[in-house]
Amino acid sequence: MFYSGTLRLLAIACFFLSAHGLLSEHELQSLCPKDRGFCPKKASQAALHNRIQSCCKKVGKVEMKFCLPLCGYNTTLEALDSGLGVKCVSQLTTWAYCAADANDNRECCKAKGVNPECLSFCKGDVPTCDLKSIFAYQPCLKQMKAIVECHVENLSAEARFDPAWEAPCDWE
Ligand SMILES: *[C@@H]1O[C@H](CO)[C@@H](O)[C@H](O)[C@H]1NC(C)=O
Ligand SMILES: *[C@@H]1O[C@H](CO)[C@@H](O)[C@H](O)[C@H]1NC(C)=O
Repeated sequence: MFYSGTLRLLAIACFFLSAHGLLSEHELQSLCPKDRGFCPKKASQAALHNRIQSCCKKVGKVEMKFCLPLCGYNTTLEALDSGLGVKCVSQLTTWAYCAADANDNRECCKAKGVNPECLSFCKGDVPTCDLKSIFAYQPCLKQMKAIVECHVENLSAEARFDPAWEAPCDWE
C-alpha cells in the first residue's frame, strides 16, 4: 500500500519533471544576448536545470542533498523509478516550490483548465505533511503538463525564490 502510493506520486513527479526545456524569453536573452535565434536548445536546458538546482540546494534540507539528481525539469521516469526516487518523495514540497520559483501561476493554470484542487501545484505550495495529503494530490497527475508549462512560461530573468524559505511540512 505504501509503495503503490509512493509510485503513483512518483508518476506525478515524473510529469512534473519532464517539462520541456524551454526558457522564458528573458532567460534566453540573458543567456544569448547577441544571437538568441541560434541559441542551442541544450544551452537553454542546462540553464533551466541550473536554475532549479540552485533553488533546491539553497532551500532544501539535508535530505535534499541526497535527492538533488531528481531536482530538475527533465528528470526521467527511469530515474524516478529507482531507489533514489522512492527515497525522495518527501522532497516534493521543496521541489514544487523551486519549480514554480515562488511565482503564483494560478491564473495561467485556470486559463489552461487546471482543476481547482490542483491549483496548489500552480502556486508551488504543496505541503506533504502526511501520506493522506499526498494521496489527495493524485488526481492532479493528468494536469501536470499544463502546470509545468505555466511554471516555465512565467519564469522571470532573475530567480525569485526566497533563500530563507522552508518547507512547511516534510515527513520522514
Ligand atoms: C538534465 O539536464 C541537465 C542539464 O542539461 C543534465 O546535466 C542532466 O544530466 C539531465 N538529467 C536527466 C535525467 O536527463
Ligand atoms: C506570473 O507570476 C506572477 C508573480 O507571482 C503572478 O502575479 C502572475 O499572476 C503569474 N502569471 C500567470 C499568468 O499566472
